[in-house]
Amino acid sequence: MKSYREMNAEELKTERKLLEQKLEQYKAMGLALDMTRGKPSPVQLDLTNHIYDSLAQDGFKTKEGLDTRNYSAPAGIPEMREVFAQILGTSADKIFLGNSSSLNQMFDSLMRALVFGEHDSDKPWGQIEGRKWLCPVPGYDRHFRVTQTLGFELVNVPMTENGPDMDIVEELVKDEKVMGIWCIPVYSNPDGIVYSGETCRRLASMKTAAKDFRIYWDNAYVVHHLCDDEAEQGRVPDILGLCEEYGNPSRVYEFASSSKITFAGAGISCLAANKDNLDQAKKIMAVQTICNNKVNQLAHARMLPDLDAVKAHMKKHAALLRPKFEKTLDILGSELEWTGTAHWHKPNGGYFVSIFVMPGTASRVVGMCKDLGVALTPAGATYPYGKDPDDSNIRIAPSFPSVDEIDTAVNVLCVCAKITAVDKLLEEQS
Ligand SMILES: Cc1ncc(COP(=O)(O)O)c(C=O)c1O
Repeated sequence: MKSYREMNAEELKTERKLLEQKLEQYKAMGLALDMTRGKPSPVQLDLTNHIYDSLAQDGFKTKEGLDTRNYSAPAGIPEMREVFAQILGTSADKIFLGNSSSLNQMFDSLMRALVFGEHDSDKPWGQIEGRKWLCPVPGYDRHFRVTQTLGFELVNVPMTENGPDMDIVEELVKDEKVMGIWCIPVYSNPDGIVYSGETCRRLASMKTAAKDFRIYWDNAYVVHHLCDDEAEQGRVPDILGLCEEYGNPSRVYEFASSSKITFAGAGISCLAANKDNLDQAKKIMAVQTICNNKVNQLAHARMLPDLDAVKAHMKKHAALLRPKFEKTLDILGSELEWTGTAHWHKPNGGYFVSIFVMPGTASRVVGMCKDLGVALTPAGATYPYGKDPDDSNIRIAPSFPSVDEIDTAVNVLCVCAKITAVDKLLEEQS
């Protein structure tokens, strides 16, 4: 079959007529489908329904006899700190557990830097006019909104198959106003890319003009594999250890949470950092809060006592998610690949598929889908300030809808992407 780029104007017009017929069929269906946010589906949440049973059965005390109902253990109960240490491949003394939402921990960490400065800062970051933050793109819209809201100028860094383009990062960090970078090292949101070992080493070892430069290492999808074969699963080195090895021990804050392991609205967030960073953070957090929800930590530790238990639980999530990702990728493969007008990375985990349609058409594709009753994340959302310079990237979130809904929604997306591509090519040929 000829790709769209190989077709002449007549062939493209014939193709458009066929696509219009499909479009009319979808219009007549009166669809109302939502592919916007990467939320666990209700069946995934059901996997955790019994998490609180152990509290009634076995009480509220930890193995060491600590009463989780009362104040104490501000950094979290030892057994759950150990579980997160195993998940992140670090040691429990580097772990601080907070309440639901790692995004909250990221926001608070930045607020502390802005108001008080880091332990190695000359002044609070809030006093740095024109402060900047590096944003690998496409990326997570909420990350970008955090740093935008807190007064950073956001600087795009293109993603590659190995993580952020490190040649560009190494150049940009020569600017002393560049204070940090967002990183989602395993199954990046939205592309599902896993950083290579070399990318991790370059991030840990690079020379930065700002001596208090920080990597915000958001390991949100560290155990969120779609395949059971361990050899295929994304894995990155322990970044805290790497930064220490390269003489930059305070360079990184690592984040994770149980949001997409247990309950997204009632999870545990995790901040991992070296002693100096953690001491500085704890000093301020101790003023804010006496301790976090340790009852929830205990319930989690009993359900997921170690990394093996976490892995076994995540396999159940994978079994539910895999058919949805497969359906999405199958349709993209059969409907779009041959046209030569779109490309995407096949993720082995995480929550998203990110497709690049013909430059200059993503907004129109998303708009057309909306008119047909298929809600997608707004085009541009995966870029700082909501502006995709190429107007090309569209994030698909297959976790929440059913396989049948995905089938329809992704087919609609493909028809819209094809029509806009045909129009663009006809425009270019005229
Ligand atoms: C990369 C990334 N980080 C963080 C979050 C949110 O995590 P939490 O629920 O712990 O705030 C998400 C949710 O989609 C995400 O994709």
